Amino acid sequence: MARRAVSPEESRRASRSWWDRDADDYQAEHGTFLGDVDFRWCPEGLREAEAGLLGPVAGRRVLEVGCGAAAASRWLATQHAEVVALDLSGGMLRHAREAADRSGVHVPLLQADATALPLADASFDIACTAFGAVPFVADSAAVMREVYRVLRPGGRWIFAVTHPIRWIFLDDPGENGLVATHSYFDRRPYVESDESGRTTYVEQHRTLGDRIRELVAAGFTLEDLIEPEWPPGHEEIWGQWSPLRGRIFPGTAIFVAARPRS
Ligand SMILES: C[S@@+](CC[C@H](N)C(=O)[O-])C[C@H]1O[C@@H](n2cnc3c(N)ncnc32)[C@H](O)[C@@H]1O
Repeated sequence: MARRAVSPEESRRASRSWWDRDADDYQAEHGTFLGDVDFRWCPEGLREAEAGLLGPVAGRRVLEVGCGAAAASRWLATQHAEVVALDLSGGMLRHAREAADRSGVHVPLLQADATALPLADASFDIACTAFGAVPFVADSAAVMREVYRVLRPGGRWIFAVTHPIRWIFLDDPGENGLVATHSYFDRRPYVESDESGRTTYVEQHRTLGDRIRELVAAGFTLEDLIEPEWPPGHEEIWGQWSPLRGRIFPGTAIFVAARPRS
């Protein structure tokens, strides 16, 4: 593990093979929490059904970016949205197909990179993601530009990422994860490598200001920034997300942005 610079191509290659390899473990660990037909925004458990961040979805064209097993897309389909679920990883999309067969809710699946969407301009009303793509790409500004391009004027873009404040702390759900350790301003990604030195996992840090600047530079207006609070009685630990830390400081930031109408 290290904080070091990696090239955009190295980051993309690592993400694709990581999520292909990790797909089974990810689903085994988090599949029950995520459900087959459900839209959870974050480890704090916030559901779209209660939050309503997307606004009305019935009859709207919705793109889920970095869908993983696409539980959120299937939930959106049950709300009568016209959904496309996109992910870089064939391994994650395999789980999306299996969950579709299990649940009987099928949505179109597309394997593609969020920095180069193979989709027509102005073809969606809403784009969304819960922790998909954005935290893993070196050029997250390119994701913002691509999402802006495929949204119609007036379209909305809602994405959840690890709250930038979390990057100050160790990746630890316990007491050790309460001690400020890293500089908030160190934008070098978190990188894991194997014994041969090959990069296997990359996660990218942006400050809150960086995220807002990338949205504004792409043409979006920021409507809201949600920091879900840890709900009483929720005891499930997800990686570094825990009740201990969640009661003290935010673990998730959800950006609610819109493409202006003109
Ligand atoms: C933490 S998982 C989140 C999956 C899902 N949204 C969920 O809530 O379970 C991150 C997902 O982003 C996908 N991803 C990573 N880089 C991507 C990229 N450049 N383009 C599209 N998807 C990407 C991964 O394959 C993985 O499925």
